[in-house]
Amino acid sequence: MTRLRPWTVRPATLDDVEAFEAVRIATWKACFRGIVSDQFLDGLTLPPHRIQRCRDAIRDVERSSVMVACAGDAIIGMGMAEPARDEDLTAGAGEIRALYVHPDWQDRGVGRALLASLTAALGACGYRAAVLWTMRDLTPTRRFYEANGWALDGAEDTHDWHGPVHLVRYARDLIEAT
Ligand SMILES: CC(C)(COP(=O)(O)OP(=O)(O)OC[C@H]1O[C@@H](n2cnc3c(N)ncnc32)[C@H](O)[C@@H]1OP(=O)(O)O)[C@@H](O)C(=O)NCCC(=O)NCCS
Repeated sequence: MTRLRPWTVRPATLDDVEAFEAVRIATWKACFRGIVSDQFLDGLTLPPHRIQRCRDAIRDVERSSVMVACAGDAIIGMGMAEPARDEDLTAGAGEIRALYVHPDWQDRGVGRALLASLTAALGACGYRAAVLWTMRDLTPTRRFYEANGWALDGAEDTHDWHGPVHLVRYARDLIEAT
């Protein structure tokens, strides 16, 4: 992939799912090594239920938003926003469930554009606040969110992905974002 081609952000279609999930898997393998176990990363696949889940989110336009970044015909990034899962949050909170930019395209503003479009979409769906989970030890990603108006809200979790991975939750008000 060349770094010189122009790119745009648009809503995902049902036909995009395999390509944007390939970006997600490539980004996990390139960016999370050392934080997530090799065994987990090397075993990442795209199971049918995951494809179905993405298609359901694309169809659920009242509550969800799935965006892709494209350079020509190639998908170079993806993001997904849905109703928040966590029981401690009030109704009316949305969640950024995925945000990935292919490693060849990072640091060019693609992630910022995807995040802005997801945040705007959550606001347009009527959510008043948004959260997202990221890895505690993923310093560049945490800096990225903090530079884009997100702040830690104190919630923490640990997943067992063939070894413990510590997660932290970020939050932001959507009233001021829209
Ligand atoms: C985190 C992630 C989504 C950010 O996307 P990105 O496209 O790399 O981010 P951006 O380019 O928008 O912003 C990153 C930097 O580029 C700079 N930048 C923004 N627009 C730019 C442009 N047009 N040209 C050059 N640099 C630019 C930003 O200022 C920022 O700089 P900083 O390092 O000083 O903060 C991406 O790096 C990624 O996929 N990482 C791995 C997966 C991940 O952690 N996902 C989140 C899971 S919760």
